[in-house]
Order: sequence, then C-alpha cells, then structure tokens
Amino acid sequence: MMNQDGQFGQYGGSYIPEILFNSQQELLKAYRDAMSDPSFISEVKDQLQHYSGRPTPLTYCNRLSAAIGGAQIYLKREDLNHSGAHKMNNVIGQGLLAKRMGKRRVIAETGAGQHGIASALVSARLGLDCTIYMGAHDIERQYPNVFWMKQLGATVIPVEEGSATLKDALDEALRDWSSNYADTYYLIGTSCGCAPYPEMVSGFQSVIGEEVKEQAQQQFGSAPDKIYACVGGGSNACGIFLPFLNDDVELVGVEAGGRSDSPGDHAMRFNTDQARFGIAQGFATKFLQDEQGQLQPTHSISAGLDYVGVSPILANLEEQGKVRMTQARDTEVLQAFQQLASNEGIIAALESSHAIAAGLREAADMDPSQKIVINVSGRGDKDIFNIAKALRDEPFNDFIQSYLAQENS
Ligand SMILES: Cc1ncc(COP(=O)(O)O)c(C=O)c1O
Repeated sequence: MMNQDGQFGQYGGSYIPEILFNSQQELLKAYRDAMSDPSFISEVKDQLQHYSGRPTPLTYCNRLSAAIGGAQIYLKREDLNHSGAHKMNNVIGQGLLAKRMGKRRVIAETGAGQHGIASALVSARLGLDCTIYMGAHDIERQYPNVFWMKQLGATVIPVEEGSATLKDALDEALRDWSSNYADTYYLIGTSCGCAPYPEMVSGFQSVIGEEVKEQAQQQFGSAPDKIYACVGGGSNACGIFLPFLNDDVELVGVEAGGRSDSPGDHAMRFNTDQARFGIAQGFATKFLQDEQGQLQPTHSISAGLDYVGVSPILANLEEQGKVRMTQARDTEVLQAFQQLASNEGIIAALESSHAIAAGLREAADMDPSQKIVINVSGRGDKDIFNIAKALRDEPFNDFIQSYLAQENS
C-alpha cells in the first residue's frame, strides 16, 4: 500500500525542513528495526494488556438495535482503554520506541487533549520528560484534560497562533522538534505528518481491527457487514479499517459536518469541494483551503475532529473506493450521544458520537440479519462541559455558578 518514500498514491511523503532530514531518517530506521524485533513487539503487547487493559470488548447493543429496528449494532469499546480513548494504543508503541532510541524528552501536539493525556501518562510511566503543545481555543474547551496533563508532570504550552487549534499546535511541535531533535522524540497522535508517522500510527492502532476480526467471529460467526469510525486525523479509523481491507466489509468514515456546509462551519475533507490536494505540515493530503491555498478555519462540536487535513492513508483509500466517507452534523451527534447513553448506559465521546450518529442513521435501513460495528474511540467524561452547554442544562450551569461563588467567598 505504501511505497518506500511513505507515499500512498499521490498522498503522504515527507516534506520537512532540511534540518529534520537526519532525525526523520533516524526515526524511520529505528521504527523498521523495532518492528522486526520480536522483543519490541512483545513489550508493546505486554503494555497494551497490563497497562492499558486490552483487549477491549465488542459490546452488543440489544436495546439500541431494537429501538433503531434495522441492523444489529455492536460497539468496539476503545473508551475502556486506560485514559479513556484509543490514543493509548499509539502512545504505548511510540513511547517504547522513543525509549529504545535513547531519547530523554517527548513532545506532542493535542486537539481534544486525549492524545496529550495519553502522552503524559506514558511519559510518566517510562520516565521521559513531556511537553504538550495545545491550541489556546482547545485548552478552553477541554480544560479538565489540561489539568490532568499537568498533574501527570507534563508541561502544557498554549498555542495562540492562527485559529489556536490542532493545526497550529502541530506547527509549534514541528518547530520544537527542529530545534531539539538530538534528545527529543516527536510523538504524533494521529496518522498524519511526514513518513513514517501515518504508517506507524495506523500500524499501532490496527490492534483495534485485529481484535474486532477475532471477536466478530467468536460472537456472531462472521465479519460485520459495515464498520463505522469517526475521522479526525484518521487514526482510530485506520486502526479499525486496515485489517478488513481485503474482506467483504463496507468501511465507513464519519467526518465532522459541524453546523453547516459553509466554509469555517465544519471540518469535512471529503464531503465538500472546499478541500483539495495540498502539501502542508510535513505531508501531502486533502486539506481544507481557500483559492489561494491558505488552510481554512474549521469547526466541530468535538475538539478532536476539527483537523484541517486528514490521514494520507484514508485520502488514498477513499480515492480507490475502499472507504466511504460520510458526515454527521453537530445536532445529530448530540442526539446520537443521548440515544446511546439512555438505551445502553454508555457515555461516548463527542468524537465517537459522530460514528454512532452515522451508524444509527444507516442501520435503520438495513436488514435485521445484518451486523454493524461502530468504533467508540473514547468516553465522554471529558466532554461534560460542552455537552451540558450544548444541551443548555440549567442545573449544571447553577452548579458551576454556586461552586465558583463558594470558592470566591
Ligand atoms: C476520543 C477521540 N476520538 C477520535 C479522535 C480523532 O482522532 P483520530 O481521527 O486520529 O482517531 C480524537 C482526537 O483527539 C479523540 O480524542
């Protein structure tokens, strides 16, 4: 699928400043060596099992399936990983790689904060210094995650540039890596960036799909008919999709439809003509951009899906017709979140609720003999403030006011 230079069709590659060439080559070699070393692979598996809690379950949703009245709905429970999201699968692999390369410091960028927490956790566990770059706007939306990163000993650097979201945090992290590559490992949180990051992150995340393959056979004796995953940068989607590429399974990515189709109101890299081929942030992919090629602002109710680009692997798979891309609007996402919570007792992240929204929408038109798997990439505890705000929950508002009044009295 990928050629020697990390190309996936016209996407991918490595477009980095010359100063990073040697460290990128060092990383590429270290990754290839590690992946052919059985002791590294078994250390990754051991940490996934004993630290993160894998395998995660495949949960059948009896009441939700009955309420929808179509296909049988199963959820892959990445929310049950340590730290509450799939991000853990990748940071364990890259954290161990950083250690193996003899680096003493890790830097990371984060959007929703899940990758920031995961990086801070793994750095603490492996004894590495950790610096996290996070857009100032995302810090406002996800402050509880920032609080935990600091408690875990990480330094969090707010990024005020641009739209103060993930793409700006990524630029700052690249700048840091350029100045400190000798002792610093850049731990990218999604399957984007220069080679070998897209391949490496997707590879570490493929444990999700590999488990689904086995669990589906055990639990219902066949592969699912369709698999749904939300798509920010694309790591949870690649992770659950890639092991099924040669099977008769429809793979559906769900991107952030936001408030409307207007520029700046969504983060759709596929279901819009506002995204085009471009080269930025170290790689080639589909980016939301204006006529002059400037990257566009994005919006999503979830901080983790508003990246302006997308994994080159998914851009290529979509172009080849191997993955279908659809979208869910903010309002539909909130409804899906509530429907899952009230029918099954599962509090999904707003990011994952995009996949749930599209899965429920399409399951309704399917036959009850069919099975779908929806990837619950993370749990929704981190979203409590945003969900309460979006639902205009007055008692929650009163609680915050009275908490602050007590603190200030
Ligand atoms: C819970 C959750 N799901 C999904 C995503 C989107 O990332 P990706 O597309 O790389 O899976 C994020 C990103 O922060 C996240 O926190």
